[in-house]
Amino acid sequence: MAKRQIKTDTDDRLTSSSYNEENDSMEISLRPKTLDSYIGQKKTKENMSIYIQAAKQRGECLDHVLLYGPPGLGKTTLSNIIANEMGAKIKVTTGPAIERPGDMAAILNGLNNGDILFIDEIHRINRLVEEVLYPAMEDFVLDIMIGKGADAKSIRIDLPHFTLIGATTRIGLLSAPLRDRFGVIERLELYNTEDLGTIIKRSSKALNVEIDNEGAKELARRSRGTPRIANRFLKRMRDFAQVKYDGIITKEVVDESLEILEVDKNGLDKTDKKILSCIIDQFNGGPVGVENLAVSIGEESDTIEDVYEPFLIQQGFIKRTARGREATPRAYEYLGRVKNND
Ligand SMILES: Nc1ncnc2c1ncn2[C@@H]1O[C@H](COP(=O)(O)OP(=O)(O)OP(=O)(O)O)[C@@H](O)[C@H]1O
Ligand SMILES: [Mg+2]
Repeated sequence: MAKRQIKTDTDDRLTSSSYNEENDSMEISLRPKTLDSYIGQKKTKENMSIYIQAAKQRGECLDHVLLYGPPGLGKTTLSNIIANEMGAKIKVTTGPAIERPGDMAAILNGLNNGDILFIDEIHRINRLVEEVLYPAMEDFVLDIMIGKGADAKSIRIDLPHFTLIGATTRIGLLSAPLRDRFGVIERLELYNTEDLGTIIKRSSKALNVEIDNEGAKELARRSRGTPRIANRFLKRMRDFAQVKYDGIITKEVVDESLEILEVDKNGLDKTDKKILSCIIDQFNGGPVGVENLAVSIGEESDTIEDVYEPFLIQQGFIKRTARGREATPRAYEYLGRVKNND
């Protein structure tokens, strides 16, 4: 039954030879496969590189790793890279797919020494499942209850030594005991324009389309610091460049495409603007709690927190305070509003 829920990546993508394809430049895929080709996230990359080398020198598994940060920043990509660099097999599943403790036990029992288990959206596993993970992560054992009532007894089964990599957009929703069992906790940050520009250049090679420096810079500036968004826009721009221009993505192509995609000069979209005008017009600039904000604009509060807020904060349009979200002077200026001080 676990087989059904676990995507086993034993195909060549995750095993051996094809990893080095990148260097042969036969085909560059959108997802980098080595730490060297993973752009940006300097601190995380440096740390991971040391932990990986150290574990390999000792001939041990890597300690359990928790990666967190907004969607589309490269958590899944990095997890696959870690497996590649460790020369380990990776099994991929997600929190909500593991429904019962027995499912979790079966997944763990099916691992081999040195394997990596990747659990995406790890904040969504339920408590009973989580309890199976505690001894597994800490001592590589499973505690199984046999029998019921007064006759019940617990037996221990040894597990292979494995590395759990958990990914989440919401570290705050992880229970403390689970979080504490990760030896390595790394936060991925929004990318700066320079790194995003490099990713865009790299992706354009993978997509077989030319983009000039000005175009790449403009696209980088307006992609919310997020590689997934940059790559998505790049694909649309390739379409525009191909059909309406001479195939090269220039700043002109970027400007026209982003206008059609309703992304403004600052990289803000309709929902960003709705959030800012709501804080200013309905809550007099804040502070306002995210739940109230969510109801007012008709969005999920999770989406506001995960997707919109990080970029608005990075760009200095809103501030997070203990009492809620506040609009900054930059937001007032951007919307052409004047702060009402009463
Ligand atoms: N550092 C990077 N260098 C180059 N490309 C990257 C990098 N990080 C992410 N990407 C690109 O962005 C895309 C999204 O990354 P990924 O799927 O790993 O994000 P994620 O953090 O797992 O998102 P989610 O939280 O939604 O699961 C990838 O397909 C990859 O092409
Ligand atoms: Mg992912």
